[in-house]
Amino acid sequence: MKLIFATHNAHKAKEIQKMLPESIQILTLEEIGCFDEIPETADTLEGNASLKSSFVKDHYGVNCFADDTGLEIEALNGEPGVLSARYAGETKDPQANMDLVLSRLEGNSNRKARFRTVISLWLNEEEYLFEGIVDGTIRTERSGAEGFGYDPIFQPDGYEITFAEMSMDEKNKISHRGRAVQKLVDFLSQLKLDK
Ligand code: IMP
Repeated sequence: MKLIFATHNAHKAKEIQKMLPESIQILTLEEIGCFDEIPETADTLEGNASLKSSFVKDHYGVNCFADDTGLEIEALNGEPGVLSARYAGETKDPQANMDLVLSRLEGNSNRKARFRTVISLWLNEEEYLFEGIVDGTIRTERSGAEGFGYDPIFQPDGYEITFAEMSMDEKNKISHRGRAVQKLVDFLSQLKLDK
């Protein structure tokens, strides 16, 4: 089965493709000739995931899914949340985003945070939503060089290392996106069994 993943982020597409059985082949937006910047104007992760998948369904008429992720920090009332990519400005600079988080948490002993991913799947004219969460804490300094985004400052619960110190495989097994994708994969596999 071919499924369009409504993203321009090749790193994310690669992470997800690695988790899927060979029978499900992911195509990115570039691979279907879509170079549009899809608007992400909703104020929830659910809303943005849905906006992106609906855009692809409406313009290309294909089965597709989209994800939206936010880092939700307890002491910052859930920020950066839906603003995670552009927390420190429209340049979407991960270093500036991390600096802003670290400065806003300076001196705060509550470092609790979580990553939350929502996936919206459009399959045969019906929409399905899947959620994945990983709890953790925000370090006081960066550590590690793997991954992307806030990985160097996020330490998942039960580990002494940050996401940026894990291999992609290790991170996929426990990550927010990994968990949401697992739910998507379980759902798609179940559909095949029913047929
Ligand atoms: P997106 O919805 O997946 O594009 O994620 C929005 C933003 O959240 C990204 O630009 C990153 O700043 C951050 N983010 C999402 N997933 C991760 C992750 O796995 N590690 C670190 N940061 C992430």
